[in-house]
Amino acid sequence: MYSIAELQEKIQDALSCLAFNENPEELYEPINYVLLLGGKRMRPVLLLLGCDLFGGNISKAISPALGIEVFHNFTLLHDDIMDNAPLRRLKPTVHNKWNISIAILSGDAMLIEAYKLMMKVENHQLRQVMDIFNDTAILVCEGQQLDMNYETKKQVTIHDYLEMISMKTAVLLGASLQIGALISGADFKDTQHLYNFGKYLGIAFQLQDDILDVYGDKNKFGKQVGGDIISNKKTYLLLKALELEKDNNTNSLVELFNDKNIPPEEKVEAVTSIFNLLKVRDFAQEEIQSFYDKAMKEIAEINLPEDRKSVLVSFSKTLMVREI
Ligand code: IPE
Ligand code: IPE
Ligand code: MG
Ligand code: MG
Ligand code: MG
Repeated sequence: MYSIAELQEKIQDALSCLAFNENPEELYEPINYVLLLGGKRMRPVLLLLGCDLFGGNISKAISPALGIEVFHNFTLLHDDIMDNAPLRRLKPTVHNKWNISIAILSGDAMLIEAYKLMMKVENHQLRQVMDIFNDTAILVCEGQQLDMNYETKKQVTIHDYLEMISMKTAVLLGASLQIGALISGADFKDTQHLYNFGKYLGIAFQLQDDILDVYGDKNKFGKQVGGDIISNKKTYLLLKALELEKDNNTNSLVELFNDKNIPPEEKVEAVTSIFNLLKVRDFAQEEIQSFYDKAMKEIAEINLPEDRKSVLVSFSKTLMVREI
């Protein structure tokens, strides 16, 4: 089996051959910009890993792996507009560096390019792969809409939140692994366990993203720290804190979020102090552990020798302690 470093290198090489040198340059330059900014390349690596796990030929999985990464980057262009995010991967976001119209249209073109790449599988696998991809892509849109709705919705439960992040983030990790496994010719039931594994891992991953949004080191995380607080995101941290404040009969958080005149930095500082006081980070960490354990149960169901699964298991461990 390949190591994670080897798979990452394969993705990096393939991505650098993908440069779009077409006209009009206003459309393609932002695509090259965002694709070459870096990023963890986690989804394409998972796709190749899903294939390699069952002894598949990973050269057949490279194009769909690129397709998943281009799709992911498309969602980031539009997500950064929706979240009003100034920074990504330590650099200005596309709508910030160029403008919103450019970020919308470059994103649209990326979605189409993602489909073209995803379709480069053998004919007998095309239907199954595209069905998974389509189902996943629409769930991502639904999750993203819920994420936006929740910014202003008063009653959001932790259960609602977990459903929402499952859609906007987690299913794409599941689909990456499942598509890779299908390309290898794996048994469908095994690919479903792998999908579930990726989904639970993805929920843990988004919980971690929400923690890093508050507690991350700006110079490593590469995104605006406190961005979720500024845009009123109903993250796990906020929902847990609201729940605890309700139990304590206090409402300083509600007051802070109702205050339309508070400067953003002050709001971030004040909300973070409340999070610290209520130790919501510890609760989030426990939730991460519980989804990680669920993921491990799924992988245990896969009909393969344990040592074959070890690369995937150690890769997922590294994701849980990430700083970027
Ligand atoms: C960012 O994904 C969007 C989320 C689902 C949290 P990543 O954290 O994988 O972003 P990159 O691709 O590594 O920059
Ligand atoms: C993003 O969630 C999920 C998608 C892009 C589909 P976030 O909004 O938390 O992602 P970041 O933090 O901007 O990367
Ligand atoms: Mg965002
Ligand atoms: Mg978002
Ligand atoms: Mg985030």
